[in-house]
Amino acid sequence: MTPLSKAVAIAATLILASCRAGDDQAPKPAAQAQVAPILTTPEARDAYSYARPLEARVTHVALDLGVDFDARRIGGTATLDIQRKPDAKEIVLDDKGLEIKAVTDGKGEKLDWTVGASDPAKGAPLSIALRPYTQKIRITYVSAPDADALQWLTPAQTAGKTHPYLFSQGQAILNRTWIPTQDSPGIRQSWEARIKVKKPLTAVMSATSAGDPIDDGDSRIFRYRMDHPVAPYLIAIAVGDLVHRDLGPRSGVWTEPAVIDRAAAELADTEKMIAAAEKLYGPYRWGRYDMIVLPPSFPYGGMENPTLTFLTPTFLAGDKSLNGLVAHELAHSWSGNLVTNATWPDSWLNEGVTSYFENRILEEIYGPKRAAQEAALSFAEMESAFEELGINSPATRLRGDDGPDEGASGIIYDKGAVFLRTMEHLIGRERWDQWLRSYFDRHAFQPMTSARFLADLRANLVKGDQALERRLMLDQWVYQPGLPSNAVRPDPGVFAEVDKSLAAFKAGGAAADVPYAGWNTAERLRFLNGLPRKLDRARLDELDHAFDLSQAGNSEIRFAWLELVVANRYEPGVESLEQFLTSQGRGKFVRPLIQALAEDKDWGRPIAARIYAKARPIYHPIVTRDLDKLGLLK
Ligand code: BES
Ligand code: ZN
Repeated sequence: MTPLSKAVAIAATLILASCRAGDDQAPKPAAQAQVAPILTTPEARDAYSYARPLEARVTHVALDLGVDFDARRIGGTATLDIQRKPDAKEIVLDDKGLEIKAVTDGKGEKLDWTVGASDPAKGAPLSIALRPYTQKIRITYVSAPDADALQWLTPAQTAGKTHPYLFSQGQAILNRTWIPTQDSPGIRQSWEARIKVKKPLTAVMSATSAGDPIDDGDSRIFRYRMDHPVAPYLIAIAVGDLVHRDLGPRSGVWTEPAVIDRAAAELADTEKMIAAAEKLYGPYRWGRYDMIVLPPSFPYGGMENPTLTFLTPTFLAGDKSLNGLVAHELAHSWSGNLVTNATWPDSWLNEGVTSYFENRILEEIYGPKRAAQEAALSFAEMESAFEELGINSPATRLRGDDGPDEGASGIIYDKGAVFLRTMEHLIGRERWDQWLRSYFDRHAFQPMTSARFLADLRANLVKGDQALERRLMLDQWVYQPGLPSNAVRPDPGVFAEVDKSLAAFKAGGAAADVPYAGWNTAERLRFLNGLPRKLDRARLDELDHAFDLSQAGNSEIRFAWLELVVANRYEPGVESLEQFLTSQGRGKFVRPLIQALAEDKDWGRPIAARIYAKARPIYHPIVTRDLDKLGLLK
């Protein structure tokens, strides 16, 4: 049997088992057709989940939850549809810190359950005993006030200052802190939810609205449903004082009223991006594409929650120069959400393919120059990662085996994109695009592994052409450290003018002679990141005055400048640093700056301690988890 037919065969066995007359109504045939297979090959086993899906698996999650801002808990019931082998004695779910009150079957009969020993990262297995025909399980529970996936904001931490706010972040293995299910990307589940929140708050989720909210006294109940089976890390919620504005016939943006105008302006090209993505790699299959611009404590740039991308407000630059972020999250609607890494060591399949796809969208809309410039910046990020990790380090392999939070982004994102760009170059754009489009079609709504990706490429594109096979160096790209010799390098011409200015400045030229004002964001970043890491006070003064860097409103430029401020103990930049670190909590910005400060014992550490004490309340648990380890607040 081929791996695929074997996987399908196992899914079929499970369906048979669940079709027997039992304690519940038979599942609807339509729902059954949707059930996505579990991959059975060894490399598809998820070490970061306790689930044993080949014995018993979740196929559908129905949440009925209330959001309690005072207690900082979400609670209610999760009703799971399951498929199991006829002789399965239990189903194992993932649980991290949930307070479980009761577990029953679909008829309300109590089921035995136990929670095993807890691991600090993975949480604990929740094992539920199955009766011979159990096919529905209902868990009554509340999340813990310190659930990793949830950030609860006080009114003071929002733009409007009047209402509290809540948002979730599921990737990679955090959703087990608020949803009791099998939290593994290879176990796809359709889902639905009823969410009760106090008026006038609005609850939005990463799914299709299932009707107007239901009025319930001082509260409203919002309803959502996701009919496609998705990886459970993609279930997401946000609650706050939210308004929506249409951007196009199927796209729009949610955010707080004070932010909506800026957000809509920055996102004005969204509909064009969707059209470009569809032209490249096939239909957008999720219905609507909405986004939500979150409060500044959102720990990521963006998160590709289906139908509702989550975005940091730090991408609001005023000139769309940071909207590559949107192209990226949109591209995940294919690479990541449609075809999903089966396990976290394979996350280059999500992030690397998406980074390539993102660049293709930018090229379609803004032209080859912007795309080539961003590709060159990404290539430089990859080179920095090689330098930092060591070119031969196993950490520079695309397929990793580290933790669930996966490898360095310079590798999985940037080397991943270079891999695909190299394939495009060697195969030819037309033939390559045709294959990639067909790959998304063939594996839509299914998990993917590196081995399957390569097998598909060989079966449907290389087709036994030995010369081509040798030229591509596929296994080396995916499984070996370093950079294969066939890698396409960025066009050195795209930053020719910037690089000339950089050389002149390094040779002692004046900052005032650098034509910075005429440059776009990518060019400015190329310049700032190309500066020597050690500069004296006079040179930094010159740069700051010439380009007003301490006041930069563009978060990427501000960050690039503040790295120099910290590396050179540049006192006049500290106020800007403090303002930046206390006004947003994006991990990519705050982690390296605070870490670098903390490592500078004599000068930076006391500054880090002072700023972190002030900033910590707005930082997300996944950011404070890392920064607390620096011991600044002892
Ligand atoms: N899926 C990621 C965010 C993520 C990665 C969350 C790993 C949890 C674990 C998202 O698509 C992403 O890559 N965001 C980037 C932005 C992008 C433009 C590189 C980010 O947040 O910086
Ligand atoms: Zn991504």
